[in-house]
Amino acid sequence: MLVTSRSAAEYRAMFDLTATDLAAGSVLDCCAGGSSFAAETGARVVAVDPAYAIGRRALAETVLSGLRDGDRIIDRNRERFEWGWYGTPERRAAARVDAAHRFLADLGERPGRYLAGALPHLPLADASFELVLCSHMLFTWANQLDADWHRAALAELVRVSRREVRVFPLVVQGTGEPVGFLDELRTGLAASGHRTEVRDVPYRFQRGAHAMLVVRTGRR
Ligand SMILES: C[S@@+](CC[C@H](N)C(=O)[O-])C[C@H]1O[C@@H](n2cnc3c(N)ncnc32)[C@H](O)[C@@H]1O
Repeated sequence: MLVTSRSAAEYRAMFDLTATDLAAGSVLDCCAGGSSFAAETGARVVAVDPAYAIGRRALAETVLSGLRDGDRIIDRNRERFEWGWYGTPERRAAARVDAAHRFLADLGERPGRYLAGALPHLPLADASFELVLCSHMLFTWANQLDADWHRAALAELVRVSRREVRVFPLVVQGTGEPVGFLDELRTGLAASGHRTEVRDVPYRFQRGAHAMLVVRTGRR
């Protein structure tokens, strides 16, 4: 699985984040990889990813090779992407390089906000973050991770959230196909007292990926 480096601008568009959302309290970026969301957004963001266990030097290599691998995949599959949001492939690539370097610099300066951890068992207390964001992990890898894994992972994201969980995108990487078990997962969340919504977002890149799942926890 690629460790990618999306920027805070990409996160704001993928999760339709407003200044109010970000001012409301602490934010968890789970499956943060090499994203600069925490570095750019500030102290209230904590980032979790299993890749943080490998140490800073190895992680730097992984993140920088992830940039090259990501560009190659996109180059080979151009018809699966639309460019209106980024403008051009070059602008997207440059934004990712910038995000990767911001991430690596912040990791060196503020290592305490980057925690090694993996779904579906996060090393975090119940209700410890106001808002939980999950970019390009759930649903993206539904060709490798089944409905049971997703059910457990979503339950874990809800457990650590006080108010809301947002997940983007809702389609499988590569094919862009919708995930067949999404409705079943929503029904299960509703039965546990959590409200869900599939909401369109302003971000556009992978064809078919234009909506996020919002889960409002039963705590509020
Ligand atoms: C495609 S990257 C997304 C990174 C970042 N969120 C972004 O949008 O650029 C997927 C990330 O999920 C992480 N990952 C893999 N298995 C995981 C698990 N079980 N729990 C949490 N994160 C996981 C990988 O290490 C990788 O960094």
